[in-house]
Amino acid sequence: MIIIYHTKKGIILAGGKGTRLYPLTLVTNKHLLAVYDKPMIFYPLAVLMLAGIQDILIISTSKALPAYRRLLGDGRKYGINLFYKAQKSPDGLPQAFIIGEDFIANDSVAMILGDNIFYGNNLDKLLKKAGSRKIKSTIFAYYVNNPKNYGIVDFDQKNRVKSIEEKPDNPKSNYAVTGLYFYDNRVVDYAKKLKPSHRGELEITDLNNLYLGQEDLEVEILGSDFTWFDMGTVNNLIEASKFVKNIEQRTGTKICVLEEIAYRNNWIDKKKILNVLDKYENSPYAKFLQKVAKDKIR
Ligand code: G1P
Repeated sequence: MIIIYHTKKGIILAGGKGTRLYPLTLVTNKHLLAVYDKPMIFYPLAVLMLAGIQDILIISTSKALPAYRRLLGDGRKYGINLFYKAQKSPDGLPQAFIIGEDFIANDSVAMILGDNIFYGNNLDKLLKKAGSRKIKSTIFAYYVNNPKNYGIVDFDQKNRVKSIEEKPDNPKSNYAVTGLYFYDNRVVDYAKKLKPSHRGELEITDLNNLYLGQEDLEVEILGSDFTWFDMGTVNNLIEASKFVKNIEQRTGTKICVLEEIAYRNNWIDKKKILNVLDKYENSPYAKFLQKVAKDKIR
């Protein structure tokens, strides 16, 4: 029997104050804001589920965690196991691996930022490929027009990674490191080794550079047939909403519907979908799930 390795654990980092969105985020945690017809966190959660990951740790502020628990529960309704942990202060993305040390245990782990949307054909295959590397790590790069705002990867002629720089003043390329990372189990030790940068945070770029130095970093380029958004500003938030609206209105279907992904992964059955319909009452989300349960959408 061939045993194919796959990453079984995932982390969604949904912390921070979302100051660039004030006053929207004065009371509501950023990752609960609406992105068209769903709370923002549905989108990164959908990505981890598409990667086949069923054990997921949600990290947020202690103030926001009760709301996430109310929204998503223990994950059973989506055929997954959800765990929650607080980030006391937002001291950088790699902190997630220190907070999540016990959850990660001896496994590899994928992390996605709570404000990232990924959408594209065969995304699940790409994710599963990244998750099948037991030793080595994978990050995803996407061509952007504002490279100064991101971690930036530079490649040599043979497409090998030359450097990764965090928010460079003089970007060497337009390839941004997106907020989705697959790491092997070394990540916990590596995260503990990092020192805060000049902005006082542990930097994911420093972590990626540790893997790069060991020649253990794969960079998958997401082509222009993929869409990637991060939603740190009001304009990004609106753009992302418009994107989801366009797809959903054009096709009459919905994207990143958690029950649908769970059903297609064989994690829940039709009965379970029908059981949740009441909760969504007369919403278009409920009507879509009805169609899924009747196998009207392939
Ligand atoms: C963080 C990372 C950066 C990455 C970006 C993706 O930036 O530090 O390398 O390109 O996420 O969303 P931040 O959101 O902290 O500005």
